Amino acid sequence: MEIEPGAAEREHGRRVAGMFGRIAGWYDFLNHGLSLGQDIYWRHRLARLARPAPGSTVLDLAAGTLDVSLALLKRYPDIRVAAMDFARPMLEKGRTKVPPELASRLNVSLADGRELPLPGGSVSAVTIAFGIRNILPRAAAFAEIFRVLKPGGRLCVLEFGSGRTRIWKGLYNLYLNRLLPLAGRLVSGDAGAYRYLAETIAAFPAAEELAQEMRQAGFGRVLWLPLLSGIVYIHVAEKAVG
Ligand SMILES: C[S@@+](CC[C@H](N)C(=O)[O-])C[C@H]1O[C@@H](n2cnc3c(N)ncnc32)[C@H](O)[C@@H]1O
Repeated sequence: MEIEPGAAEREHGRRVAGMFGRIAGWYDFLNHGLSLGQDIYWRHRLARLARPAPGSTVLDLAAGTLDVSLALLKRYPDIRVAAMDFARPMLEKGRTKVPPELASRLNVSLADGRELPLPGGSVSAVTIAFGIRNILPRAAAFAEIFRVLKPGGRLCVLEFGSGRTRIWKGLYNLYLNRLLPLAGRLVSGDAGAYRYLAETIAAFPAAEELAQEMRQAGFGRVLWLPLLSGIVYIHVAEKAVG
């Protein structure tokens, strides 16, 4: 399996960073609106499953506007969070939401998930919400996450399901392919971004296949949990000790 990003994947990365940069101002509004507020609950579940060691650092990768980073900091009062993303406007938007009492435990930096600027074994958990779908090749991100995790640490991935099974008699699929791009265009003026969302969901592997990719990257136990009839999943993968 190809791990190193090639020219096409680098170009894909530049387009993705540009696209999220353009919709950063609308991102939170659309997220909460289009999921009817469910996304807030999903991110809290993710934070709860991360279970970092006390006093340790958690990497929140593809941190975007920092909702998962903030959920982690609030849930675990003694950890630090390294929030990384390669779209500067998303991180800048996120920074405006950080309350002063949490700021000293949060480090925000511009970084590509395929080349993490962290030493091996330096974080006790990694979270990635709605990010892995955008990263190609995924194996490069999984390899980097595995490298920076301490043995015994957890990778927690929140992501949409593959969209290939009809959910709620196809109603969700209609929403995904028709209503979402339309709403995206009306509100943010960027239909492309929300069409891209539907396309990446359709191209994403099913839960078991994704788990298999994680095992191939070296993770031991991999479990997953469907939420809202499998519209989204949380995968939890552990890096074995020893
Ligand atoms: C859908 S947003 C999710 C943001 C946030 N985690 C959340 O839950 O709202 C996807 C984010 O992934 C980031 N991203 C995509 N590919 C990336 C990569 N290779 N390295 C770092 N960040 C990446 C994008 O810039 C974007 O901010």
